[in-house]
Amino acid sequence: MRNLIWMVLACMAPWAMAQSYFGPGETKAVQGSGAKFADALLNMSADQLQCSLHQNRLPADATPSFLAAQKASIQYPKGDKFMGDWQKGGAIFNNLQKANCFSCHFGSPANLGGDVGPSLEKYGLQRGQSEAVQRYTYEVIYNAWSYFPCTVMYRFGVQGLLTPEEIADVVAYLLNPASDFNTKPALGGKR
Ligand code: HEC
Repeated sequence: MRNLIWMVLACMAPWAMAQSYFGPGETKAVQGSGAKFADALLNMSADQLQCSLHQNRLPADATPSFLAAQKASIQYPKGDKFMGDWQKGGAIFNNLQKANCFSCHFGSPANLGGDVGPSLEKYGLQRGQSEAVQRYTYEVIYNAWSYFPCTVMYRFGVQGLLTPEEIADVVAYLLNPASDFNTKPALGGKR
């Protein structure tokens, strides 16, 4: 049945695909709920639609192509310089109105962290600073769906919330051993 749905969906224009996620009654209700709200739900991107249809749990056979498409969306900082200025990165990480990372992740020395995502306490001391770790951290922040399909973590690069250079600053905040993130105790932590 799922395969049949996918075959039908694949033949339709993207707007028609998103429309078909809702029944006629639901579509009408969404349309009457404000233009922005309706636009977000009725004009979902193809990847968001895929996550929604599978309730954020992609089937195994759909995952490799999904991950590859997400990876292809990533733009890298000039000269692949993944680590920027950790102090600027801290200001971004700890700003509720900017990246708001601390609301989901524990580990900041400046703000009590949340537990929606995994703890990042002393991230740079735990993972080291190898090229692979820098690249991974950058890619997760730019587009978390390239590793964790459909996760709630914002896709900072894809959604235009942070520039590649700003992401590199945040990477430095997490990884640089001299960063406050690694030298000062996490607020509410024991180390
Ligand atoms: C809305 C909550 C939310 C926000 C905001 C958020 N994250 Fe995440 N993050 C998550 C979740 C959840 C995961 C785990 C992914 C999964 O398993 O689905 C994650 C995973 C990660 C990982 C991978 C951790 C590992 O162990 O490898 C890193 C690094 C990370 N986030 C950094 C950040 C940074 C930096 C920011 C801010 C720029 C941020 N996150 C903002 C929820 C969030």
